[in-house]
Amino acid sequence: MPSKPSFNLALVTGSTSGLGKALADFLEEKGIQVIRTGSKDINLADPSMRKKLLEEITEKKPDLIINNAGLGFYGLSVDLPIADQLTVVEVNCNALLEISLHAAKTLLEAGKGGTILNISSAGAFFAFPTFNAYCASKAFVNHFSLALDLELKEKGIRILCACPGQIATNFRTRAAKGFPQKTDKRTISIEKAVQYLWRQIQVQKPLYIFDWKTRLMVWLTRLFPRALLNKALLKSLKDRYK
Ligand SMILES: NC(=O)c1ccc[n+]([C@@H]2O[C@H](COP(=O)([O-])OP(=O)(O)OC[C@H]3O[C@@H](n4cnc5c(N)ncnc54)[C@H](OP(=O)(O)O)[C@@H]3O)[C@@H](O)[C@H]2O)c1
Repeated sequence: MPSKPSFNLALVTGSTSGLGKALADFLEEKGIQVIRTGSKDINLADPSMRKKLLEEITEKKPDLIINNAGLGFYGLSVDLPIADQLTVVEVNCNALLEISLHAAKTLLEAGKGGTILNISSAGAFFAFPTFNAYCASKAFVNHFSLALDLELKEKGIRILCACPGQIATNFRTRAAKGFPQKTDKRTISIEKAVQYLWRQIQVQKPLYIFDWKTRLMVWLTRLFPRALLNKALLKSLKDRYK
């Protein structure tokens, strides 16, 4: 059985709140030092600000990189500002691609192995009206991560992709631009999500949908007639935007 990976230094983007903060706290409790970032110190939507973070990666060579920072907005694509939707793609896709490739190249040049965990979403599996740019951006994360893992696995660098369902963070309230969002039976705690992610890192699972209810939902919807699914998707987020 392959031994569990161990890490010296982690980088967690979006570690000022929600899942990223809990992950960073958890890793530090495990004795792993963490580089933390948030939008106030490094706005990942700004390529010139990302340079600062890339330089830090070159210098410190973290061997666990968690691309967690992410955002999305609910609403009809034509009603939402285009600039907001470009920010979603910039942070969720471009920043994630740049950080992943820069970190992988840095580790390769240093002759070190490592793990890059990209936080996607169960939304990645759907062409989702009213959550369009977000879910499309997460579909990119899935494909990019899986293909990069195949390219780098033999070289000792793993790229993992996590697809959570709903987690009890402020994400949905932010996506609704401050309009408060209720939790429901499908929502899992941040602590539980951290446990799932840590387990994924330990077993180096390339793609992990959690929890089981979300996994079941993703698999079952593949069996639904497409027209029925599309109708349900279009209605499902109606109470999340004005
Ligand atoms: N919560 C869910 O239900 C859920 C479900 C599936 C997937 N996810 C994914 O999980 C990840 C973490 O989300 P969360 O639930 O913890 O949401 P959250 O509480 O809103 O946290 C998002 C994090 O991303 C950072 N961020 C946002 N825009 C940024 C920017 N332009 N530059 C730098 N950092 C930026 C935020 O930093 P600031 O606070 O400094 O702005 C914050 O630390 C995201 O990738 C999200 O897509 C969440």
